[in-house]
Amino acid sequence: MNFERELLMIPGPTMVSPRVLRVLSKPILSHGSKEFVEGFAEALELQKRIFMTEGIPFMLAGSGTLSMEATVANLVEKGDKVLCVENGFFGERWADIVHAHGGFADRLNFGWGRAIDLEILKEKLEDGDYKAMTVEHVDTSTGVANPIDKIGEILKNTSTLYVVDSVCGIGGMPLKMDEWNIDVCITGSQKALGAPPGITMLCVNELAWRIIENRTSIVSDYYADLKKWRAVMDDPKRYFATPATGLVLGILEAFRIVEEEGLEARWRRHRLFSDAFKAGLSAINLQTFPSKGFEAHTLSVPIMPNAVKDSDLRSMMQSKYGVIIASGIGETAGKVVRIGHMGSVTVNDLIATLSSLEMALMCLGFEIDPGKGVGAAEKILSKG
Ligand SMILES: Cc1ncc(COP(=O)(O)O)c(C=O)c1O
Repeated sequence: MNFERELLMIPGPTMVSPRVLRVLSKPILSHGSKEFVEGFAEALELQKRIFMTEGIPFMLAGSGTLSMEATVANLVEKGDKVLCVENGFFGERWADIVHAHGGFADRLNFGWGRAIDLEILKEKLEDGDYKAMTVEHVDTSTGVANPIDKIGEILKNTSTLYVVDSVCGIGGMPLKMDEWNIDVCITGSQKALGAPPGITMLCVNELAWRIIENRTSIVSDYYADLKKWRAVMDDPKRYFATPATGLVLGILEAFRIVEEEGLEARWRRHRLFSDAFKAGLSAINLQTFPSKGFEAHTLSVPIMPNAVKDSDLRSMMQSKYGVIIASGIGETAGKVVRIGHMGSVTVNDLIATLSSLEMALMCLGFEIDPGKGVGAAEKILSKG
């Protein structure tokens, strides 16, 4: 069937609220207009509140990878050592970027979806002379969530800068940049913040900024040179390169929605949805991929039963029920599907997704008691 209204339940980009869509449909503004400049300034203020930091906010046109690259290009000079803590596809991306900018990446890989062993990490940090350490808040390839607060405690007494990728976390799971000793934190617009793709954000604390200011070599990326952007972020009337005016106002509206809901209430909603969805999966005998106790609240990653091909499941859910879910990537390709439940997702979306998952699995010959997954989810949702 050809649906005009589908449910986009992949782990980003996610569906956005009609309020955000209305803002995006407005006429294009000049980047020098009062309306845009004031909106940009408000968005940067809200960005700091959402990251829970007094650090410097940067908002750039581009996807999450641009913020990863900007972080490395600005912090790392030739020969600098960076510890890249990895447990999935996106964690592994950091090492490639570090090498591309002339640094040396020491990779500490715990295996895809597996929990980080904090003792091993501690020893590694004591042994090496690292300028920075990178880690994922949530690795979207596996649905694993890392203990960013506990890692921050370990890094507190070292001279290593703490870099966190929260592209799939901020807005959906607790992230307290300053309290957790994070020096640079990045995210994207298209996931738990509930805005379209195209804007990436990072916040840099005073310590990391001093290191950027005092570097001796030039930054190896002209567009991502944060010193060039700083003037714009301090005074959004200034020009360095044309901001994505419509998208900035789109994320501003999404930020206002986050503020109205309240960060803590939003984290609780994501937790509730995640618990309900995962209970539904378990009730229909689907195991999830990440280590127990380390599951993200922003997505679920069920392992495919042997008898079912993930591509058949995805295409049936889309063609018959209008629900779009994602495949695995890298090591998880063909083994799992990835289902996002973050940002502006509602209880209705969640139940419809679980129900269509059950029906599609039944069509594909997997035995299920119809409604068992939905029933398990309802039990949790009705208490929330
Ligand atoms: C955790 C994480 N980090 C980084 C990225 C890269 O972001 P982008 O695809 O927006 O460049 C993604 C994308 O899904 C992600 O999930």
